[in-house]
Parts: sequence; C-alpha cells; structure tokens
Amino acid sequence: MTAQLIDGNALARTVRAEVAGRVAALQQRGITPRLTVFLVGDNPASQVYVRNKVADSEQTGLAATLERYPAALPQAELLARIRALNADARVHGILVQLPLPVHLDAQAVIETIAPEKDVDGFHVASAGALMVGRPGFRPCTPYGCMKMIESIGYGLKGKHAVVIGRSNIVGKPMALMLLAQNATVTVCHSATRDLARHTREADVIVAAVGKRNVLTADMVKPGALIIDVGMNRDDAGKLCGDVDFAGVSQVAGWITPVPGGVGPMTRAMLLVNTIEAAEAAAS
Ligand code: GUN
Repeated sequence: MTAQLIDGNALARTVRAEVAGRVAALQQRGITPRLTVFLVGDNPASQVYVRNKVADSEQTGLAATLERYPAALPQAELLARIRALNADARVHGILVQLPLPVHLDAQAVIETIAPEKDVDGFHVASAGALMVGRPGFRPCTPYGCMKMIESIGYGLKGKHAVVIGRSNIVGKPMALMLLAQNATVTVCHSATRDLARHTREADVIVAAVGKRNVLTADMVKPGALIIDVGMNRDDAGKLCGDVDFAGVSQVAGWITPVPGGVGPMTRAMLLVNTIEAAEAAAS
C-alpha cells in the first residue's frame, strides 16, 4: 500500500473529546444538551444506526432519547410529536432516522423540524444556508468528510474534486462544501457517461453511491485523495465501501478505510451539531 490512511476512529475520538468539554461547560450552567432521535418502523440497519447515535451522545455527556414508533404510525401523529418537541426548550436537537416507511412523506417530516433543532442539516433552511454560504447545520456525513480532509492539512483551493453520487444527504451538500473551499467540483451520477474519464482527472474523489467497486485503481490519478462514504457488504458479508480499497490504495496518496473512516466521523459530527444547537439556545 502506498496511500496514507486517514483514521476516522482516531479523528472522531478527538472530536468527541472536544464536544464532551463543551457539554461539561453547559452543564456547569445548569443546561443539559439533549438530542431526540425518532425511529419509525424496524429497518435493521436503522436500528443499529440510532442505537449508536444514542450511545455516542451519552458517552459524550449529551442526553439522548430514542422515540420508537411502529411502521404504521400516521403522518399526522409524527408531525404532532415533532411540533411538541420543537416547542420543548429542554430538547436542542431532533433527528428523524431515514428511510421512513413509504406512506410517510420524508421531506414533509423533515420540514416540520424547527431549523434551529435540525441537527441532521436536512431541512431546506439548512440546505439553503449551505447553498448561499450562511451559517447553519451541515449534513453530518459531508461535514465529517471535510474534517477528514482538513485533518491532513490538504488545501482544496484550485483542486479538482469529483463527487460520485448526488443524494441530498451526501453528494449534493458535499459538492457545495468543496466548492466553498474553492475546489473545482464535478458531480457524477448514474447517468454520467464515462465516469473514469472524470475520476482520472481528479485530485480528490468522494465516492458516495452505495455500491461496491465503483472506483477501481485504473480510475485514479496517482497521489489522489480518496474519501469512501460507501457502506456495503462484500460476498463474504464483510463491511466494505464503494472503493476497491486493495487496488486504489496502491495508487492514491490518501484514502479513508471502511470501516473506521467516514462512518465514525458522521456520528461525531452529529454530536458537534447537537452541542452547537444547545449552545445557540443557551446564548
Ligand atoms: N439514514 C442514513 N443516513 C442518515 C443520516 O445521516 N441521518 C438520518 N436521519 N438518517 C439517515
């Protein structure tokens, strides 16, 4: 392997320690920062994610409440519960785990969360703030990717960044954050013709598709910085990303592993957003 690893676990530990200090400072003022997580239905992956989010929060000293509802929960009831928490000053962050059961309108649910409690950064107000370069909550996964890039002292100005994937959760906000750091950004997606032609030109590649081996060694310029957002299983059932790690790590300059890369940083940035929500409410 020639690429240097960017260790998401180590960086997340540093971020969590910093959050824990800020939590303690608020607690000294009699304020307990609180996150409420909604889980509707019994998607197995979502159950693991929300359990981890609650555990991370508690480990940092944040109070976290998990509200679980059956898949058949009527939308009006979910919206009413979110509105009640919007009005509850003890709750600083509200997160609704996605995907939601199909009868629920996810965007309508997200828009019901008060923007000042939107710690996932998915509300149109948060997305709009990112778009125009105003302060606001940034979606945790691309926010974590930016922290990883920053951690190696990598200057993005003038660099060509290729984002593979255009989801509202990762691809689109990732592109905007890279742009805000003066990278030249190309967004590739399922209808892109000749993906490799784009990636071979890239100094930075963020793979966020949710499919194994989207990026292979022949598609990477030597020395490039590779961020792997994917979370997949290989044929043996082992966790793997979107990037062919064995091959690409022979060519790249830096690479994030899966597991132990972007995943822990996504979780850490949720804690950052939550402590920021609590600090803003307390100021
Ligand atoms: N589902 C997959 N990723 C996420 C995330 O970052 N936040 C929420 N709420 N749901 C998700």
